[in-house]
Amino acid sequence: MTKAKKSIAFITAMAVVCLAFGLFAWHTNKPQGESALAASAEQILTLQIGNPQMTVDGESVNIDDSGTVPVIIDERTLLPVRAVVEAVGGTVEWDGDTRTTTLTYKNDVIKLTIDSTTAYLNDAAQTLDVTPVIINDRTMLPIRFIAESFKFTVDWDGDTQTVTITVPANTESSDATAAPNTNTTAKSVVVYFSATNTTEGVAQKIAAYTGADMFELQPKVPYTSDDLDWTDEDSRVNAEHNDSNRHVELVTTDVPNRDSYDTVYIGAPIWWGEFSWVIDEFVENTDFTGKTVVPFCTSMSSGLGDSAKHLAEKTTTGTWLAGMRFGSSATDEQVQEWIDGLDLPTSNSTGTTAAASTVYMTTDITPEALVEIYDKLGFEPEGNVAVKMSTGEPPNSNYLRPELIGDLVKKVDGTIVECNTAYGGSRSETEMHKQVIEDHGLNAISKDGKADIMDEDGSMTIPVPAPASGTSTITEDYVGAHLANYDSLISLAHFKGQVIRLLRW
Ligand SMILES: Cc1cc2nc3c(=O)[nH]c(=O)nc-3n(C[C@H](O)[C@H](O)[C@H](O)COP(=O)(O)O)c2cc1C
Repeated sequence: MTKAKKSIAFITAMAVVCLAFGLFAWHTNKPQGESALAASAEQILTLQIGNPQMTVDGESVNIDDSGTVPVIIDERTLLPVRAVVEAVGGTVEWDGDTRTTTLTYKNDVIKLTIDSTTAYLNDAAQTLDVTPVIINDRTMLPIRFIAESFKFTVDWDGDTQTVTITVPANTESSDATAAPNTNTTAKSVVVYFSATNTTEGVAQKIAAYTGADMFELQPKVPYTSDDLDWTDEDSRVNAEHNDSNRHVELVTTDVPNRDSYDTVYIGAPIWWGEFSWVIDEFVENTDFTGKTVVPFCTSMSSGLGDSAKHLAEKTTTGTWLAGMRFGSSATDEQVQEWIDGLDLPTSNSTGTTAAASTVYMTTDITPEALVEIYDKLGFEPEGNVAVKMSTGEPPNSNYLRPELIGDLVKKVDGTIVECNTAYGGSRSETEMHKQVIEDHGLNAISKDGKADIMDEDGSMTIPVPAPASGTSTITEDYVGAHLANYDSLISLAHFKGQVIRLLRW
């Protein structure tokens, strides 16, 4: 083969059905073994601003002997790190010389240095948006970084000024949870925005279960609690909600190693019945071609409605699944059950991968509808494009008429390709076949005014990958030698409307 066959799309048209088969590498998103999820009881901690006591699984205990209290400074809730980590069975070490705190929980180790925005999670440098500070001899920090690193869920109740930290039952340390942000081999990523950490909690559960990497979308100008007050008609969210040209700039939309991901979970809170507009910049600026996109959201009470559909409409690329809504107390089981039911790409036994098929259908049999449905595939053919079709056996054959497919063939600058038949008839020899092609008006829509009979100069073989399961004796396939001249192939197939009979024996 002189040229690699880079991409192939198939469209089945005419009898109202168009099928698209993605051809991208998938991998399984499920954890490798149950050992990664050894169970321990869920723990719940609550801490309240100004309150020297916290609750651990419902029991009130002093935060420490010095009367340390959680505080709000510069609109950030700062919690005493030692009390939280020790309460859940972790350890805390303080090095006065380097002013460094080392937090260990299960197999994960966080190093924080006072007044430094660089922290380390399992030796990987991370940037904090707030430096750790010492207040009354205690290291204080917003809980978000620690929660993300240790896979805790954090809820904030503004009315009672209470932080609830949930330590899931299944956070026994595992490879999947050790250092998600540095795992470049993972094939799924959870991209999310979370204003008050609820969506982040679900994102963490997805990542813990699937081994996905995580990527947080952060607005350049973070939202304060006043900004988020939708009951105040002068608040930032209300101003943005009322502005049809709103645009929230993100720190970055550039997910590291983004090409390596097959599945993109994308999550945000529901704001006024829709996915928060904070993620729009990411959706609009990302090419999801070849990826399965799985929207999820959290809300107080609103259902998913059409919100995921509206989100998907902000881009033309990617295969978007239906999406899922979670409440603020989503459990691991709920998240896992949802993931188990998803139609996600899977890998086969050979290490090569197969994509879940997405079926697009239209009952509008027109050139415009065919182009529209083709566009839905998000397929961008490269180089020399072949359009495979049946050229139609005279005298009374069904074949796709040039008037129907011409616009699409021209749009992709494609050459109509076909092989001679093996069963005799008017297309079994090249010269006869060329005449049929001309008679059927197919040269006229083909690139350079000339369709191509691919086996005119003999045949070549292409390898047939091993099946996902079972065995196959077919290891190669004979095709027309001209296939080597093309970089992309679109297959237009049609059904004749055969009567389907139901037989009873
Ligand atoms: C500006 C704004 C608008 C909201 N609109 C809705 C809504 O329409 N329906 C609803 O059920 N919850 C609504 N909520 C509540 C959030 O969707 C819910 O608390 C969500 O879980 C918060 O996620 P987060 O903590 O990840 O930001 C809204 C919250 C905010 C701040």
